[in-house]
Amino acid sequence: MPRSMFQSKPVVCLISGRGSNLEAILRTAQAENWQAACGIQVVRVLSNERQAQGLEVARAYGVPADTIAHADFPTREAFDAALAEAIDRHAPELVVLAGFMRVLTSGFVARYRERLLNIHPSLLPAFAGLHTHRRALEAGVRVHGATVHFVSDQLDGGPIVAQAAVRVLPDDTTETLAQRVLGQEHLLLPRCVRWILEGRVRLNGERVVVTGARPDELLALPR
Ligand code: GRF
Repeated sequence: MPRSMFQSKPVVCLISGRGSNLEAILRTAQAENWQAACGIQVVRVLSNERQAQGLEVARAYGVPADTIAHADFPTREAFDAALAEAIDRHAPELVVLAGFMRVLTSGFVARYRERLLNIHPSLLPAFAGLHTHRRALEAGVRVHGATVHFVSDQLDGGPIVAQAAVRVLPDDTTETLAQRVLGQEHLLLPRCVRWILEGRVRLNGERVVVTGARPDELLALPR
């Protein structure tokens, strides 16, 4: 029996809203049968927002989902401590920020060093922070996209695992551009999660090395 058949690799996903990236992970996990193929299982979804639609997405896939509302805590540190406690109950190999819109304290980031993955809707290091699509249009860039990276304590910083680029078209609006980027995010994030849990990803200083990845998987380019 291959090792992967009995080795469990729990994943916890953190969300704040719609949950389309979470859905992409859960859909891909089901389609590729991650649990049987490599032991990967999303065991819990946690939201910092009670109203997050992604909570229903999780439940629709049979994944337990809870809210730990940041608004209930007096400080960032107190919220992050409660979040860490909830995460650690599941001893995850990977914590995925799948549309988690809260800045985390450096203590939290340090605790999950090399186990904390984020997706950001721009080609980092360009356009860290919010409103990336609007800012890309305002800047007049011809290329935009999404980045999956390990989280450091710099805002939207940390070693890059993979990126996907889209063309910025002359008649793009923030909505059309966001939609095209999001389509790429949904391919990019599940792929990176799987690579990491298959043990194919290692850090070499600030650079990420992925064993056996094709160039077009590390950087998806527009046709
Ligand atoms: C995505 O664009 C993601 O890159 C960013 O927040 C958005 C979340 O969307 N971090 P969803 O909740 O996954 O639909």
